[in-house]
Order: sequence, then structure tokens, then C-alpha cells
Amino acid sequence: MAISRKVRDTLEGASWVRRMFEVGDELKRIHGEENVYDFSLGNPNLEPPSSLKKALKELAEHPITGMHRYMPNNGYRETRRAIAEYIKEESELPFTENHIVMTVGAAGGLNVTFKALLDEGDEVIVPSPYFMEFKFYIDNNGGKIRLVDTNQDFSLNLAEIEKAICEKTKAILINSPNNPTGVVYSLESLEKLGALVERRSRELGKTIYLISDEAYRRIVYEGAKLPILFQCYPHTIRVTSHSKDLSLPGERIGYIAVSPLCEETEELIGALVFANRVLGFVNAPALMQRLVAPLQRNSVPIREYEEKRDLFYNALTSFGYQVVKPQGAFYLFPKALIDDDLAFVRELQSKRILTVPGRGFGKAGYFRIAYAVERKIIEAALPGFKEVAEKFRTG
Ligand SMILES: Cc1ncc(COP(=O)(O)O)c(C=O)c1O
Repeated sequence: MAISRKVRDTLEGASWVRRMFEVGDELKRIHGEENVYDFSLGNPNLEPPSSLKKALKELAEHPITGMHRYMPNNGYRETRRAIAEYIKEESELPFTENHIVMTVGAAGGLNVTFKALLDEGDEVIVPSPYFMEFKFYIDNNGGKIRLVDTNQDFSLNLAEIEKAICEKTKAILINSPNNPTGVVYSLESLEKLGALVERRSRELGKTIYLISDEAYRRIVYEGAKLPILFQCYPHTIRVTSHSKDLSLPGERIGYIAVSPLCEETEELIGALVFANRVLGFVNAPALMQRLVAPLQRNSVPIREYEEKRDLFYNALTSFGYQVVKPQGAFYLFPKALIDDDLAFVRELQSKRILTVPGRGFGKAGYFRIAYAVERKIIEAALPGFKEVAEKFRTG
């Protein structure tokens, strides 16, 4: 075979999310789509805001000359300005359009960030369980992932992070609200993290960056506000997108925001813009840049996700599942009722329920439920979750 050995090895250990998605396809073929309860993929079921669709129609009917042409690699100035104004207000830091780079989703933004920062062999510390694609993004750009355990409730374990920091550490990547656990890191823990990284950077005589994956930044519950990491540590880079807050994952639109307090900001942003170009993204999709600019303070109705979380969480705990109550994103990460999470996920499959084993996120013994689906699918699946719980409780 002609493909690279490295890619072949990676494919063999292929993503569990994708694998479960494929199992699901087969089940759907056999039982019919409506009889399979698919919680495998975090694909938002809500539609983008109607104002976005109206603006899209308006642009199609009254196109602007040149709107499909190349642009500066960091994106349209007006879009970056709109984002900078929003972050400036939120963080009370002097953000301008020059601190923003428009990207092809958060995934594109992370690759660009790693390309700009990493030398061969540099380490990126990632609390686990984690979104498995991080490993590939870091590897794509010459780095090495260094996993650290979180606490029992999936909060940050600062002692573990401190232990992992060494000469090779270039960055710490955190993701809150978290995929797969739905946990939101507290302001207190982020302030402590900031202080820790600042102290260790000083001791090591180098700058360690905090990269904040905020793909789910607006999906937080009970009216809570996501702490602003820019206020906890100067060398902070936010990577996010509108895949989840505006339900646009297929449109691939996101951005990187570099703290104005970062050292050598200009050089760093220059490197990000260069990386955006040479990784082949060139620039973020033009049409989407125009459409999301006025929607920086908008989102899909988060309350709908919260209601689904409540329905699922209350039912699962009443059936005897142990699960940390998520404060954001649209995932639950319960403990499997037997040690073997893959066997457990297969048991759920026998009830036509699709989930992903925890080993797909670096944490065997758990499983992930993605509940950005219609409420009736959750309601229809609950009896299956109950039967499986009863089987293992009595058997
Ligand atoms: C934690 C996390 N980061 C990044 C991404 C990628 O998001 P995007 O669609 O914006 O590239 C995802 C997608 O599910 C995610 O869960």
C-alpha cells in the first residue's frame, strides 16, 4: 500500500467516535433510521439563528463586488473588529482587530496555533479525558501531547499539571466547557492555573502559553458565565468557532484571539497568519466571515440544551448511573456499569443506542453521550438505558 505508515497506524486505531458512527449506520440500515438512538456525534441539532439566514439571502440577492475574492490571510478587517470589540468588552483588555485571526473552525485554529508555536519535540500538556483529535493536531505540527489526569469530578488537577511541566513544555491546552465531560472549569481553578504557569515559566526562563479551546464557550448552563482566561494569565490564546454557538459546524468558521498582554504579540500573530496560509487554509470562508460578524453576542437557544441535559441527567441518575452533572457543552460522561467500557457500549447497542466508549477520550470505564439531538430521541432511548442498568445491577 502506498499510504504513509504513520497514517496507516493511526487509521488502525481510528477514532472511536467515527467507529461508533459507522456501527450506527449499519444499525440504521437494518432497523430504520428512526429506530436507532444516535448519541455518538456532537452534531448540533438546532438551526442557526434566522437573522443569519436572512443576511445570507440578502447577500445572495444583492452581492457585493469582490465578495468571493482572496483577502488578507487573517480575514476581513470588519469581522475581526466586531470580534475584538466583543472580547474587549468581555475581558476589559485592549483588544483590536490586530489580535484576531479568522480560521477554518476551531480545528483549523488549533492546527494554526500549533504550527505557529511548536518546534519538533515540544510538549503540549492536555488534561484528560480529552477530545482525541488534539493528539493529531499536535502531532501534525511536530509536537508531543502530554496527558495529565483530572480530578474525580474532572476538574483541573493542578498538582498533576505542575508535575508535567518541564523544559520541553510549550503550551497547556485546556478545553472548557469540556468535551467529553461537559465540565466547566471554575474561575478559582483557572486563576490558580495562571499563577502556576506564570511561576513555572519564570523558573524555567521561558514562556509557556495557555491555549483555551472554547468551541463550546456559549453553551453554559444555569445562567453561569464562562470565566475569561485572558484575565487569569497574560500569554493566553483563545481558539473558538461558531460551529456550536451558531450551529454552523459544516461552514467551518472560527477565530483565534491572542491576548494583547502576550509577549511579542506582533511576531506571534505574524506566525499565525503565515501558518493559516501555508497549512492551505489561506483564509477562513469569506461568506461566513460576513455573516457571523454581527452575531458575536448571539447564540442558538442554549436553554434547549439545558433542558435535554436535565432530562438525561435526572433519568440516568435515577436508573443508578454515576455521572458528574455537566455545566456546559452537550455531553454526558457517565461511568460504565462494568469495567469494560467497550462491552458496555455494545450492550447499549443491543438496545439500538449509540454512544462512544471512554477509551476514545483517554478514559476507559466511562462512556460519552452527545445529546444535541431532538428531545424525542432521548425520551425513546431512556427505557434502553434503564434495561441495561437493571441487567448489570441484578446480574
Ligand atoms: C473540544 C473541541 N474542540 C474543537 C472542535 C472542532 O470544532 P470546529 O468544528 O469548530 O472545528 C470540537 C468539535 O467537536 C471539539 O469538541
